Amino acid sequence: MLEADQFRLGLYVHWPFCEKRCPYCDFNVHELDPDQPTDQARWAAALSAELRHFAPLAQGRRLTSIFFGGGTPSLMAPETVEAVIDTARREIGFLNNIEITLEANPTSADADRFAGYRAAGVNRLSLGIQSLRPDALLALGRQHSVDEALAALELARSAFDNLSFDLMYARPRQDREDWAAELDQALALRPDHISLYQLTIEPNTIFEQLARKGIIRPKEDDETADFYHWTRQHLSAASFAGYEVSNHAAAPTFESAHNRLYWAYQDYIGIGPGAHGRLTSDGAKTAARQHRAPSVWLDQVEAQGHATVTHENLSAEDRLAEALPFGLRLTEGLPLAHFEALAPGLLSAGKIEALRAEGYLMARDDDWLQVSDEGRPVIDALARYLQS
Ligand SMILES: C[S@@+](CC[C@H](N)C(=O)[O-])C[C@H]1O[C@@H](n2cnc3c(N)ncnc32)[C@H](O)[C@@H]1O
Repeated sequence: MLEADQFRLGLYVHWPFCEKRCPYCDFNVHELDPDQPTDQARWAAALSAELRHFAPLAQGRRLTSIFFGGGTPSLMAPETVEAVIDTARREIGFLNNIEITLEANPTSADADRFAGYRAAGVNRLSLGIQSLRPDALLALGRQHSVDEALAALELARSAFDNLSFDLMYARPRQDREDWAAELDQALALRPDHISLYQLTIEPNTIFEQLARKGIIRPKEDDETADFYHWTRQHLSAASFAGYEVSNHAAAPTFESAHNRLYWAYQDYIGIGPGAHGRLTSDGAKTAARQHRAPSVWLDQVEAQGHATVTHENLSAEDRLAEALPFGLRLTEGLPLAHFEALAPGLLSAGKIEALRAEGYLMARDDDWLQVSDEGRPVIDALARYLQS
């Protein structure tokens, strides 16, 4: 299994624009000027050029998955999406059953493009619904209503056999009973996959300023932990097993192949402003990062075919520091051999034993690393301890 996994390859495409930045968001996102429409043909050509630049590093592998993330990729014209998919097919090639996901916002304007994305080759849609409560959508600064989200979901359903949506919970002032009702309403919509994110207050966001001024009151850690445990159990009982910390699928076939690739620390090419890539060539794993600013990225790609800021080898310590917090997120964990291949001799058997004894890691097969329910909320701390 390990050997086949090392040959997996994904493609991440970053679309950096949004109509409006959400007040909680710290992603590499830029608000569009309504008077200056995006030059879609120019972006299609630049994304394709940067993809051609990286294609030789696929070294004969074909793509398992493509993910259009953002920002708001549903602001891309279907022709732009199609151009990137066609370049990927031509320059790298697709494995059978390739998963091609696009993140979409549930406004009516975005939903008008869904059929076009399906025709372009997208076969999985991930809708950012965030909440089914009007007051919460307002507080989150969203640009859509509950009715618009439900209508978008219906349109998405008619175009896609693989449909996911995101909700955010543990919001300020949200109570558990109302979350239970909201979640049941969400499950009744019968998604194939659902991502449930606890609202986090990120540095340098409007929500951080509001929290500092006492205008919003984020939940305390223990209340957030209660929400988390209850949510995971509730989803399991509804046959939506959590295969990762925040992700649940109605059946294993609906688990996100692209995200699984990140968690198992496999390779991916990243194109677009601020995109990251991880690529193995000649036995070395490298990290590539593209310029974050859309206008600089565009100019550089047009001048030299790519906007790579850094592309460097990762040491064994770096590889372990990246692979651990990702791998521990997978509910079923990973074989120790996975980490041993990435960082020979760096994982301490004594530390693993200590975490097993304290109940943070499952005491299953000796040759396997799997977090327990108790360990799941503190994965980053466990990973730091294991790599030190
Ligand atoms: C970068 S967003 C892009 C998706 C899409 N444009 C949208 O707005 O729905 C991807 C997902 O990250 C989650 N997210 C972003 N910031 C978050 C935060 N501070 N706390 C929790 N979840 C967050 C949201 O659920 C969102 O759907």
